[in-house]
Amino acid sequence: MPTSYWVDSTPETDFPSLTETVSVDVAVLGGGITGITAATLLKRAGKTVALLDMKRIVRGVTGYTTAKLTAGQGLIYAELIESFGEQVARGYAESQQEAIERVATITDEERIDCDFERTSNYVYTESGDELEPLRREVDAAQRLGLPASFVTETSLPYEIAGAIKMDGQAQFHPRKYLLPLAHSLPGDGSHVFEYTRATGVVEGDPCRVETDKGPLRARDVILATHIPFLDRGLFFAKVHPYRGYGLTAPIAPDLAPSGMYITSGQPTRTIRPVPDGAGGMLLLVGGESHKPGDDPDTERRYRAIEDFLAERFGLREVTHRWSSQDYIPVDQLPYIGRLTRRSKHLYAATGFRKWGLTNGTLAGMILADAILGRPNRWSSVYEAQRLRPRASAARFVKENAGVARHFVGDRLKRGESRAPKDLRAGEGAILRVDGEKVAVHRDDEGELHALSPVCTHLGCLVSWNTAERSWDCPCHGSRFDPSGTVIQGPAVDDLKQRTLPG
Ligand SMILES: Cc1cc2nc3c(=O)[nH]c(=O)nc-3n(C[C@H](O)[C@H](O)[C@H](O)COP(=O)(O)OP(=O)(O)OC[C@H]3O[C@@H](n4cnc5c(N)ncnc54)[C@H](O)[C@@H]3O)c2cc1C
Ligand code: FES
Repeated sequence: MPTSYWVDSTPETDFPSLTETVSVDVAVLGGGITGITAATLLKRAGKTVALLDMKRIVRGVTGYTTAKLTAGQGLIYAELIESFGEQVARGYAESQQEAIERVATITDEERIDCDFERTSNYVYTESGDELEPLRREVDAAQRLGLPASFVTETSLPYEIAGAIKMDGQAQFHPRKYLLPLAHSLPGDGSHVFEYTRATGVVEGDPCRVETDKGPLRARDVILATHIPFLDRGLFFAKVHPYRGYGLTAPIAPDLAPSGMYITSGQPTRTIRPVPDGAGGMLLLVGGESHKPGDDPDTERRYRAIEDFLAERFGLREVTHRWSSQDYIPVDQLPYIGRLTRRSKHLYAATGFRKWGLTNGTLAGMILADAILGRPNRWSSVYEAQRLRPRASAARFVKENAGVARHFVGDRLKRGESRAPKDLRAGEGAILRVDGEKVAVHRDDEGELHALSPVCTHLGCLVSWNTAERSWDCPCHGSRFDPSGTVIQGPAVDDLKQRTLPG
């Protein structure tokens, strides 16, 4: 299975599962950067916390990312000013910078060796036709106080038409940063539980968190599960999943570009150097964004990035390849705050737009402050119950029309008529078996696995992801492994098993 450099270069964790009911001040559901940051800040402030994850921690999106810490997030500030006004856009810009500083401070205070490095970020284009929006973005970023300038020279080995350079940004190794923080959580009434899947929350005094290993009680609960698995709040209609792919390749240190790069237009290419831990250097290149479940040939996504690596950098040896997905909010701003208007003790954060290392850090800061009763300068910018600005209405309709199309259209499809025995090793397909649609996969040992293709979240039909060997739901991004086990929410129940005839 594809594994990221971040996961492969750090030790596996071994926290226990929940075995008895525990009571804590705060239950933090989800062990990525959002959950671990929130739990760390809350424990530091004297709260008891229980951090729990349905898998091992930091193996969700945070373990499969590009690991840039930057306010230079493509073209965003001109749009934010237009949609929300200068005050909100300035709040977004300042808070992204503050999140970078918070990671730097925690790294210093805890003496964490996580390859944290200050560097410049570049949003660039090779096309003269795309210079106008780039220049508009430089103006917007400068107006908001960001350290942005327009440049035409970079250390990339090919010519560009122009770039927005942002100084004082950073890159790091996300697992080297987060694992020490997680290891310092247990003790004095606090816990970390792995392989403990949250399945429900009854809000009360205290709240009751239902898990597959038994209940847990907490005064406050943070849903840091990437997208809330509770449908209250309807976040699944306000944010939409997009996958992305990454590769690392060895590169001579003197040939590695300095700084972090992302294209302003399509196709997206994101680039950064990564120290390999042995004195050498890797080049990480990513891109190929698409909706999960929409591309039957995900392998070609890796091939496209391999071609780019070879053409632009002359690199052909790939050490790691991986993909993951993040949620894009229809109005571009993440949602951080109370789950619903009525929630008193239930909080959530989602919609990080593939910039969740700053936004997840920020979510941890904002939600910890909310629970501690402290004011936070930026909470109003990310208000989870805000109304969408009119500008995003078209995007809301388009995204949800796509979901509706899958919900209805996929059900009308008949399923392939070939027999399960005709599937090749590694292949998966929705087949018509005895008049019923069945999701069938043949593993490398030749064994067939049959499942219901009906996603346990809201009932769309999953489709096979060849490169990752998973069943992915095109509607809200739930993913299941070949045996039907949930590997990514919002679904919390596994796909139902089916038996093949004969
Ligand atoms: C290809 C790609 C590249 C990216 N690059 C960057 C970048 O360079 N810079 C940047 O800032 N951002 C980047 N991002 C975005 C960023 O990585 C994510 O937004 C961020 O890591 C999300 O963190 P999280 O803690 O919210 O979610 P996760 O890291 O996914 O953590 C959520 C955790 O919750 C657990 N969980 C889920 N459901 C349950 C349940 N029911 N019970 C218990 N546990 C559960 C999961 O197992 C998981 O461990 C990128 C994203 C992608 C897809
Ligand atoms: S993720 Fe919502 S229906 Fe599958």
